[in-house]
Amino acid sequence: MKSFTAAAALAFVSSAAARTFTVYNNCPFTIWPAHFTAPAFSSTRPNYPTGWAQGAYQAVSFSVPDNWTAGRIWARRNCDFSVNPGPNSCLDGGCNGGLECDINTGGGVPPATLAEFTLGASDGNDWYDVSLVDGYNLPVRISNNKGCHVADCAVDLGPNCPAQLKGPFDSTGFPVGCKSACEAGLGDPVNNPNCCTGTHNTAATCPSSGVAYYSYFKSNCPNSYAYAFDESSGTALWTCSAGQRPDYTVTFCP
Ligand SMILES: *[C@@H]1O[C@H](CO)[C@@H](O)[C@H](O)[C@H]1NC(C)=O
Repeated sequence: MKSFTAAAALAFVSSAAARTFTVYNNCPFTIWPAHFTAPAFSSTRPNYPTGWAQGAYQAVSFSVPDNWTAGRIWARRNCDFSVNPGPNSCLDGGCNGGLECDINTGGGVPPATLAEFTLGASDGNDWYDVSLVDGYNLPVRISNNKGCHVADCAVDLGPNCPAQLKGPFDSTGFPVGCKSACEAGLGDPVNNPNCCTGTHNTAATCPSSGVAYYSYFKSNCPNSYAYAFDESSGTALWTCSAGQRPDYTVTFCP
């Protein structure tokens, strides 16, 4: 009896060494979600293909290691992988590799709204955010089952996107993205406050006030990570105690 209990406890410990992530497509159209892990941390990838098709109102769940580090989940729009599968197979968010993103170089083509995660960081927290640093292509929400703060960008930023940033567009002319000022090529290529590059490469020298159209993104999506040093806003990066082993849901078109 005693050894049975010990074995059951061990089984519990090993199954608790992972979290359940659910991706829910609340958009009224098919999307092609993907995940990517920064190559330096690729020993901790989720146990699921790196890209898949997901119809409207479908949910998929998969297991993610407790120490998933520098991971991202996003979704691609208007894909066709039948010819020359790769980054241009989708109107936005496409990746090297085609349907399944290359584990080393398949981080996705901007503009794309990113759900970013580092689980079990050294401070004992999970860290997560909805990033608009690479621009916007779909509304996204990160929620969890432990009552920790929601991170989201719930607004469709395409239609009212400033003209310089708007696009790409689908065959009807509808904007399926809104680029960041940096991705849109506004400003100097090497020394650019929109990109926090050159002399602007620190939080102190790259304030949000110097980033063109920052307020369009941040005012519509106040819980999002809207430029490279948005921690200072206090509403960009969110935490949840890793000890509670939260499960997360990433909802597209929440
Ligand atoms: C995550 O944990 C696994 C298993 O313990 C280990 O092999 C890997 O190096 C860890 N990765 C990171 C990024 O800490």
